[in-house]
Amino acid sequence: MTHLSEDERTLLDAARDARTRAYTPYSGFPVGAAVEVDDGRLYSGANIENAAYPQTVCAERVAIFKAVSEGARRLRRVAVVSESGASPCGGCRSVMAEFGDPDTEVLISDLDGHTRRTTLGVLLPDAFEMAARGPTLSSE
Ligand code: THU
Repeated sequence: MTHLSEDERTLLDAARDARTRAYTPYSGFPVGAAVEVDDGRLYSGANIENAAYPQTVCAERVAIFKAVSEGARRLRRVAVVSESGASPCGGCRSVMAEFGDPDTEVLISDLDGHTRRTTLGVLLPDAFEMAARGPTLSSE
C-alpha cells in the first residue's frame, strides 16, 4: 500500500467527494479529480457528460479549468478517483502538461483506497510544446 502524506490524503478525499457529484447518465462511470496548485489551494471537479457524447468533459479537466479560471497557473499535484482506479485519458494528460511539469505528482485511486503515485512525466513523456526544448532536430 502506498504511504500517503496528510496533504495527499486531503487531495484524494477532495477527489473522492467530487466524484459523488459527477453527472454520468450515459456511462454510469463517475470520476472525481482534485488539483493542488502552487499557492496550496485545492480545486475539485467531476466528469460532466452530454447527450452529444463528445461534449463530455472529464473530471480532471473540470478541476484544472476551475483552478485556471480562478487565476491559478501551476499544478503541484493531481488526484483522480474512480471505481476501478482508472488512469487519466490522453487529452487530460495534455491539459495537465499545459499547467504542470514532468515532476507534477499524479495520484490515482480506486474506491477501496488502493492508490498509485506517479508523475506527469511518466504518464506523458515527450509532451507537445510549441517551442522545442531539447536538442534541435537534425536535418538528414
Ligand atoms: N473520464 C474522466 O472523467 N476522466 C478520464 O481521464 C477518462 C474518462 C470520464 C469521461 C466519461 O464521462 C466517463 O469517464 C467514461 O468515459
